[in-house]
Amino acid sequence: MKVYNDVLSVIGNTPIVRLNRVVPKSQHQFFAKVEYFNPGGSVKDRIAMSIIEDAEKSGQLKPGGTIVEATSGNTGVGLALVGLLKGYKCVFVMPEKISEEKRAVLRAYGAKVVMTPTGLEPDDPNSHYSVARRIVEETPGAYLTNQYHNIANRRCHYETTGPEIWNQMDGQIDVFVGGAGTGGTLSGIGRFFKEKKPAVKIVCADPYGSILYDLFYHKEIRDPAHSYLVEGIGEDMLPENVEFQYMDDFVRVDDKESFQYCRDLASKEGLLVGPSCGAALAAAVKYSETLKSPSKILVMFPDGGRSYLSKAFNEQWLKEQKLV
Ligand SMILES: Cc1ncc(COP(=O)(O)O)c(C=O)c1O
Repeated sequence: MKVYNDVLSVIGNTPIVRLNRVVPKSQHQFFAKVEYFNPGGSVKDRIAMSIIEDAEKSGQLKPGGTIVEATSGNTGVGLALVGLLKGYKCVFVMPEKISEEKRAVLRAYGAKVVMTPTGLEPDDPNSHYSVARRIVEETPGAYLTNQYHNIANRRCHYETTGPEIWNQMDGQIDVFVGGAGTGGTLSGIGRFFKEKKPAVKIVCADPYGSILYDLFYHKEIRDPAHSYLVEGIGEDMLPENVEFQYMDDFVRVDDKESFQYCRDLASKEGLLVGPSCGAALAAAVKYSETLKSPSKILVMFPDGGRSYLSKAFNEQWLKEQKLV
C-alpha cells in the first residue's frame, strides 16, 4: 500500500513551482518552494518535528509534558500536530494582531491559546515572550520550545530543507530569497547552499519596521522597530537562529507591495499564499533587477493564504489599512 503511517510522515518534500505570470518578463527565472503543502500548512511543521525530537533526546521533554511556545501561529500549528500525535499538552502565547483563523486552528488541535498585547518590547512582562517564559516556570514538566533561540530550528533546515531544494533544482540555483522571523529557514538553507555552491546568493526580505536590515548592514539599529502588517517575518530583536554570515543581501519591503504580490499570486498563478510570500517575492523581483546575468531565483513561500482570508483577501480590510 502507498500510504503514510501518520500525518507526521507527510511533513516535507513540498513542491517547487515555476512562477510564470506574476513576475516581470526578464532574463531571469523565478521558482517558489510552496510550503503550504505541509500537513499543518506551513514550513514550521518541519522545525516542530526537529525541536520536539531534539528535546526528547536531550531529556528536556518527558512523557506527559507540556509544550509552550511564543508563536505567530504557524509554529504553533506544527507543534500542536507533533504534540498531539506524541501525547504532549500544548500552550501557545501570541500577540493580538495574529489572525483569528490561526488561533482557531490551534484550538482545533486541542491546544490552549493565550493572547498578549501587540507591539510590546520583548522584555516587557506582558510581551508574548515574557508570558511564555512565565507559564513554563509555573507549569511542572513544561518545555519552552523557543523557536527563536533553539538551534534545532536552523539545524533542521540545514539538514533537510536545504538538501531537499538542492536535489529538486539539480543544484541549479543562483539566488535564494526568503524572509526571516526566527531566521532558521534562511540561516539553515543558507549554510547548506554556501557549502555546496558558495556563489549562491542568500537574500533576506525584510519589512520596513524590522531591525534586521540595520543590524546586517550597520551593526546598530538606526530605524527603531515599528509595527507592520505582514505576519511572521522581520524582528524587533536578534534571534539566535539568525546567522548573518550565511546571508549576502537584505531587501526592504513595505506592506503595500507585499500584500499586492500576495493577492497577485492567488489571482494570476493560482497560488493562495500568505503575505510573507508576497513580501519575499517583492524582494526577489527588486533584487533580480540588480542582476547582470540570467539567474534562477528560488523564493521561499512559508505558508498558505487561507489563514488570511479576513485580511489579505478582504477588500474592506485592505481599504481600511490603506493597502489598496
Ligand atoms: C508566515 C511566516 N513566514 C515566514 C516566517 C519566517 O521563517 P523563519 O522563522 O524560519 O525565519 C515565519 C516564521 O514565523 C512565518 O510564520
